Amino acid sequence: MKRILFVCLGNICRSPMAEFVLQHKVKERNVAHEFYIESAATSRYEIGSDTHHGTKQELFSHNIACPPRQARQITRSDYDHFDYIIYMDDSNHKDLLNILGQDASRKLHKMMHFAGSNADVADPWYTGNFSQTYKDIDLACNALLAELGY
Ligand code: 4NP
Repeated sequence: MKRILFVCLGNICRSPMAEFVLQHKVKERNVAHEFYIESAATSRYEIGSDTHHGTKQELFSHNIACPPRQARQITRSDYDHFDYIIYMDDSNHKDLLNILGQDASRKLHKMMHFAGSNADVADPWYTGNFSQTYKDIDLACNALLAELGY
């Protein structure tokens, strides 16, 4: 079982998109039972909120399921629980280290690193451009699955 937690600032735009895109891909590959996939926020801003409508619309346009959910903040116990904690930008990394204290087991990974890039996942919060976020996440999820041998 591979346990993967995607993390962004609010857990309503980027990290739930990554959660649902990867969930879709592992189902397509008939390996969903080999994965536990979730997402969480670094901040408390949107705790309890459902996925942003821009992320919902983008996923809908790709026929990817987006069931109702509630944003939550990452906890220290998530660090023990998950194998891969995958964040979207450098600011997430700084916030994660503040919350977790350290990354002793080297579980923190920057999303676009899987695709061989040091770029941040495009942040749709100010731009409203959810399709660029989707392109980045789709690319990185394919690369992540390849790295895991799928
Ligand atoms: P996310 O987007 O981190 O991709 O979920 C944001 C959500 C909320 C805020 C910023 C970005 N905010 O400032 O409340």
